[in-house]
Amino acid sequence: MSSTIQQERRGGPPLSATVRDDFPFFAADAPGAGLAYLDNAATTQKPAAVLNALTDYYTHANSNVGRGYYQLSMTSTERFEAARETVRTAIQAGPQDDIIFTAGTTHAVNLLAATIGRKLVGKGDRLVVTGMEHNSNLLPWRRLCEESGARLVVVPVQNDGTVAAADFAAALGPDVPLVAIAHVSNVLGTVNPVRAMVAAAHSHGAYAVVDGAQAVPHGRTDVSYLGSDFYCFSAHKMYGPMGTGVLHARSGLLTSEPPYQVGGGTVKAVSSRKPVHYVGGPARWEAGTPNVAGAVGLAAAFDYLGALGWDAVRAHDEALVRAATEALADIPAARIIGDPAAQPSGLVSFVMTGIHPYDVGGHLDKQGIAVRCGVHCASTFLDDLGLLGTVRLSFGVYNTVEEITRVHDALRTVRPGYWTSEQPTTRFV
Ligand code: ALA
Repeated sequence: MSSTIQQERRGGPPLSATVRDDFPFFAADAPGAGLAYLDNAATTQKPAAVLNALTDYYTHANSNVGRGYYQLSMTSTERFEAARETVRTAIQAGPQDDIIFTAGTTHAVNLLAATIGRKLVGKGDRLVVTGMEHNSNLLPWRRLCEESGARLVVVPVQNDGTVAAADFAAALGPDVPLVAIAHVSNVLGTVNPVRAMVAAAHSHGAYAVVDGAQAVPHGRTDVSYLGSDFYCFSAHKMYGPMGTGVLHARSGLLTSEPPYQVGGGTVKAVSSRKPVHYVGGPARWEAGTPNVAGAVGLAAAFDYLGALGWDAVRAHDEALVRAATEALADIPAARIIGDPAAQPSGLVSFVMTGIHPYDVGGHLDKQGIAVRCGVHCASTFLDDLGLLGTVRLSFGVYNTVEEITRVHDALRTVRPGYWTSEQPTTRFV
């Protein structure tokens, strides 16, 4: 292996190895002991700080929010709203912007497609996405186009995994009311120049929706700097709980839309004789009992990452991506897809010549290495790349260069197996 990898092995990535001790999942008697968990783009493990925040909420504050005229309910409401303010500060949202708690990125994008999307996008319009979108930032828009008679325009991805600024600009026009773009590709790790893309969209009068699911865990998020109209992300990919996410909406954009779901918590007044009056603000979008503990856990995850230091988190990701690209360069049959080291964002995708990705994943699994292989919920992108699937290494704050060395060593012994010989064209979504 190259001297740089050996050097990084000596020096190690910037975050201390003791970060792993923050995660009960990796304790000596837990399932993660000895496991090289490299599927963090799918979901991350949770630090004790997040698990304790969930337990503490349920132990000391559990009650419904915004509905109870008693102390415990008011305490619960205060914690929920405090979590909202933690998120607002963490992503640099404006004081009047909406921070809406959702079940995750998928829920947030569906909410947008069904509300502002239906309002803005009509017959004859075009709706622009990039060719690297995850199904969750593709299918809601595709369905909206099918329902409305609009046309979905997919801006192609180049061989280096990026979208050419000129191609994106050429897709815009007066008939494009909305664009939806990934901040970071969950397949290749490409970081899109979101600020410039949003500015281009705005210059044509289009609103910009950004899927930030793969970006928020890897660096300080600044929605004010990006200028996005709507920014969506999930807690579980950033060390928070599953079933929780955020839709950030720039001030005033969602206030007058009819609610996505209606029910408890969304109404100002309901009587059988008069029209229903819905509340404004985030409650309009959070029908039913919200996932209060999830929001509290998400806030704890932001606090945890903030305490580690975003610069250190970013530098750690970069060190691991560089180590992985160097390790893979040392395996003759391995071919990296895209250019993940150009702007490292915590993941590297590759294929092995003549070996089905599932055979690679299965072999790594037998060596105690967990990776995702296949199409990564982005089969149209994989079609465009002309690939059956990839093997994806995706990193978290607890990963080490030593784990990448284990991947390197395991890949030296991988051979074609069942999928390559018996099911060579199989892929799952
Ligand atoms: N979106 C997740 C991934 O890329 C599930 O694996």
